[in-house]
Amino acid sequence: MLTGIKVSIIGQGYVGLPLAHSLVGAGFHVTGVDIDETKIALLNKGKTVIEDVTDSDVLEMFNTSRYEATSNFSAIAESDVIVICVPTPLGESNDPDLTLLLSATKAIAQVAKSGALIVNESTSFPGTVRDLIVNIFREIRPNVEFDFACAPERVDPGNSKWGHTDTPRLVGGLTEKSLSRAVDFYSKVCNQVIPVSSPEVAELAKLLENSFRQVNIALVTELAEISSSIGVNVHEVIEAAATKPYGFMKFTPSVGVGGHCIPVDPMYLSWFAKQKGSKSELVDVAQKVNEQRPDKVAQRAMELAGKASARILIVGMGYKPNTSDLRESPSVKIYGILKSAGYEVCWYDSFVDAFDGKSCETHVADFDLIIYAQSDSNFNLDNAIREKNRILDCTGKIKKSENIFQI
Ligand SMILES: NC(=O)c1ccc[n+]([C@@H]2O[C@H](COP(=O)([O-])OP(=O)(O)OC[C@H]3O[C@@H](n4cnc5c(N)ncnc54)[C@H](O)[C@@H]3O)[C@@H](O)[C@H]2O)c1
Repeated sequence: MLTGIKVSIIGQGYVGLPLAHSLVGAGFHVTGVDIDETKIALLNKGKTVIEDVTDSDVLEMFNTSRYEATSNFSAIAESDVIVICVPTPLGESNDPDLTLLLSATKAIAQVAKSGALIVNESTSFPGTVRDLIVNIFREIRPNVEFDFACAPERVDPGNSKWGHTDTPRLVGGLTEKSLSRAVDFYSKVCNQVIPVSSPEVAELAKLLENSFRQVNIALVTELAEISSSIGVNVHEVIEAAATKPYGFMKFTPSVGVGGHCIPVDPMYLSWFAKQKGSKSELVDVAQKVNEQRPDKVAQRAMELAGKASARILIVGMGYKPNTSDLRESPSVKIYGILKSAGYEVCWYDSFVDAFDGKSCETHVADFDLIIYAQSDSNFNLDNAIREKNRILDCTGKIKKSENIFQI
């Protein structure tokens, strides 16, 4: 019986909370653990902490009596399955920083019951499950049997078409038994589970997916600069190329890459390649091209804004439309560059409550320039265009006219 199976999810963020919601819906007993006491307090008040799970989803989970949210790891002691969904950022020199993943693993190893299945969903380099997670368990709980698997999350927050139920799930197990248990577990909440021959295949596939995106984004970013130098609209060029029915996949240039995946995961691949005496030159160059994009947008904005006392509004502070996630957001970088250069910079984002001690700007007139960094359906773009604001469009979505400028 599903209702008898206890699952703990370590980390109740963009990856962990939607998973908790699906598992509770499927009949599992779920303990959501997070070291962020504020998040846990909000969840316990029936408040969500991310966009893809609503307040009523959270209340619904509590109403089943099969969900608890806690910061106390002792609550996971009876769990049959423990899933790790904690951040795996970069350190100061752009190397993997697994501090949170390793501390979560240590905390789990201290209390997990014998025979539990431990699954890592956090993105990391090949060998993370086999060499790091398993070794921590062996040190802390020698002679106790556990199963281990890797099932990288592919969720795209804010994507209304593909959620984690209908996005095929890769699963790699340390042993045949681990694999079979993990496949069985994910089959309860994912329509398609794809077993692979080892955790390393799953780990490397995840890095490939996001490096593929990073490289292609860098390519169209460069193309945007080439097209603009000859006065050709890059979006028209891309649409034209996309009419080819095979061998082409459409990527579009933007204000830059951000979030917890595209600017981060390829650096895990790059670091890993170096550890193995290999190279990932293409990934490294693509990273550089993408990193430079916010500076180029800021430079263009300064040219357009003119005087140093100009007032500039940035629309869309999240790293992509419809998210409050500011991690690695290009708009945040542009905001910082313009502010340091002495401009008066304001922001608009209907998903972000506060930023830089300022609240969201609601009055859009009287700006010397609007940087339309991300589409925001609540922003009155028509009004801004009617008011003849000068707009630097980084989305390619605004029809070209006298006061609309492309990057
Ligand atoms: N956000 C995405 O779009 C996305 C998509 C696919 C994969 N991933 C990967 O999933 C992982 C989690 O990312 P996220 O976006 O959910 O991060 P997040 O910051 O939204 O959530 C992670 C949560 O883990 C908590 N946490 C940190 N250390 C902890 C610990 N030791 N014990 C318990 N809780 C701890 C944090 O407080 C946070 O609430 C990362 O490896 C990320 O690369 C993210």
